[in-house]
Amino acid sequence: MTDRILLLPGDGIGPEVTAQAQRVLEAVADRFGLSLAFESGLIGGASIDAHGTPLTDEVVEVARKSRAVLLGAVGGPRWDELAVDVRPEKGLLRIRKELGLYANLRPAVVFPALAAASSLRPELVAGIDMLVVRELTGGIYFGEPRGRGVEDGRRVARNCMVYDEVEIERITRTAFQAAQGRRRHLTHVHKANVLDVSQLWMEVVDEVARDFSDVELVHQLVDSCAMLLVREPARFDVIVTGNMFGDILSDEAAMITGSLGMLPSASLGEGGVGLYEPVHGSAPDIAGQDAANPLAAILSVAMLLEHTLGHAEAAAAVNAAVEGVLADGARTADLVLGDDPRDVIGCVAMGDRVLARLSS
Ligand code: IPM
Ligand code: MG
Repeated sequence: MTDRILLLPGDGIGPEVTAQAQRVLEAVADRFGLSLAFESGLIGGASIDAHGTPLTDEVVEVARKSRAVLLGAVGGPRWDELAVDVRPEKGLLRIRKELGLYANLRPAVVFPALAAASSLRPELVAGIDMLVVRELTGGIYFGEPRGRGVEDGRRVARNCMVYDEVEIERITRTAFQAAQGRRRHLTHVHKANVLDVSQLWMEVVDEVARDFSDVELVHQLVDSCAMLLVREPARFDVIVTGNMFGDILSDEAAMITGSLGMLPSASLGEGGVGLYEPVHGSAPDIAGQDAANPLAAILSVAMLLEHTLGHAEAAAAVNAAVEGVLADGARTADLVLGDDPRDVIGCVAMGDRVLARLSS
């Protein structure tokens, strides 16, 4: 059976990193005898320029018929002046929603070879291995009513944080199940001292917890969680939280590991399609210079192999190849702090190194 993979490279460095990820996926497919068919489409600013909308219905349809979507990044200064509803980011939000991808898995792991690139002291960074499970299709990102207007002569803007119990329960189950396969510790992040929504999360998380008595559950306020992440990051195993808190905390978790340029993500739902993308953005300042780090996109391929194609061995081969090139000393510019004397290589060269490792 041939699996269809939709590439949505997007904007900025998205096309550069996605190209390297595709090369790796093709090589791995060859080696493990997987049959893949690639298609590509536009999303974000690239789609706005071509079609006047950040995501066309046609691309949504192709995505629905695919096994997995490999996405680069969206956005850039060229489209910053546009209203929220037609911005590049809207394309990303829409595809997540249309495909029902409510579970966003963002692992944040320290690669031993990169511990020195973290902005935290090495002894704090050692052993960081956490998974942020972010709810992705609800909360303040999608709540109604929303919008801007003028009331009593003043400009007003409004967004709503809304969750129902089913949305909370399904993401909580995903997180507990993930914790069972890891260190059996789950931190639920909330703001229940202020928000009704968070109080409902507390209730539902506690109800679901009865089915997972082998996992230790801690409820943590979001502000103190942000603080603990920099004070004692290694204490975290799995974190579960809503869309907005998860957006913010996953960047924080990513950065303390050394580089946002290293971290992949998977977005899964009830349907069969999975979407895989690096956590980093489109980095317009370095786009087109062959300076981007493709490793987060390449590690997203490993997640695709594991979660959608169910091929743990192929996923492990990709992960091992990435660890290998780092151990060899290969670094893109984002992985070098201060006066690190190592040779800095570009995006394509990093892809070459991973391919060489894969075939060795
Ligand atoms: C992310 C990004 C997106 C989000 C933006 C680009 C819409 O920050 O994937 O974390 O907020 O979800
Ligand atoms: Mg984000």
